Amino acid sequence: MSTPDHATPTHAAVSDVADFVAALPKVELHLHLVGSASLDTVLALARRHPEVHPGQGVPTEVNALRRFYAFTDFPHFLEVYRRVNLLVHTGADVISLVAGLAAELAARTVRYAEVQVTPVRNRMAGISFADLAGALTDGRALARQEYGVELGWVFDADSALGPPGAEETVDFAVNHRPEGTVGIGLGGAELGVRRADFAPAFRRARDAGLHSVPHAGETVGPAEVWAAVTELGAERVGHGIGSAADPRLLELLAERGITLEVCPTSNVRTAAVSSLEEHPLPTLLAAGVPVTLATDDPGMFHTDLNAEYLHCHEVFGLSTAELADIARAGARAAFCPEPLREAILAEIDQVQRATGG
Ligand code: HPA
Ligand code: ZN
Repeated sequence: MSTPDHATPTHAAVSDVADFVAALPKVELHLHLVGSASLDTVLALARRHPEVHPGQGVPTEVNALRRFYAFTDFPHFLEVYRRVNLLVHTGADVISLVAGLAAELAARTVRYAEVQVTPVRNRMAGISFADLAGALTDGRALARQEYGVELGWVFDADSALGPPGAEETVDFAVNHRPEGTVGIGLGGAELGVRRADFAPAFRRARDAGLHSVPHAGETVGPAEVWAAVTELGAERVGHGIGSAADPRLLELLAERGITLEVCPTSNVRTAAVSSLEEHPLPTLLAAGVPVTLATDDPGMFHTDLNAEYLHCHEVFGLSTAELADIARAGARAAFCPEPLREAILAEIDQVQRATGG
């Protein structure tokens, strides 16, 4: 019996899109290792290391941890993030974070991810640079062997530690250079911090062959995205949503093919934007700016990459063909080996053909 057109229920259509997104091979280019840890992983760490940093604790009970992850604003998020980071003490902790992340990525059909790690913060929590490098190399091999996920590392400086912290981050990236190292980043607060102050550290990293992928324009306007591009040589920008207010900047990003790593749920959960409906993603896409979707800190924001793609269908009305184009934009913007990029692009074509999406 054929179904009349008008009887097609909306939820069936959405579940078709969910199936399409689940099958779509993807890359994820903006997520933080510590922020990716699941609730269970964070609870296990909090129980394993209860007294190491007195007064800096993280809840050891799941409902309290969920409440701990209700962020009032961006500074509150950064404070919670810092505390969770302090739970990661050993190379073994790092490897278990990488393994948990790889399992999550594989479950979302993510073939390749670039993961941000903040070595100076890890050292403040008790892990030497040498131990961190060894754990990342081992964790990356495990992600490939056990889960079929390829990982690249971006070492990000925390803006709160200023230019000296950024220089130490570059020291780590250049002197230890764990396998899979692809880039240098800059995270933390933007308010009251000038991207331009970090230009010397970024210059040294770029001279050593690292890609420049700073956060900019997450909680502030277009000026810091301009600075990221002109002063830090940004090849991609973390978030960059502040660009939407500046048509000239949008034109520059589109012309130069500078991809924005857009993390819609993150921006809502940190109150950088007030709702998904008001997120500037449609403005960025309409201006022809290359955009890749990402989760930022999926364990803390209660999201995953498939959910981000699905939001784009449900909230912004993107079709399956447009979602496949976003997946392609990510593969093109990835700093992965060329054969892997080609394989992912071919796989996206194949899934699109097979599903008629
Ligand atoms: N922005 C700045 N710092 C961060 C972020 C972010 O999105 N996630 C973890 N540290
Ligand atoms: Zn981030």
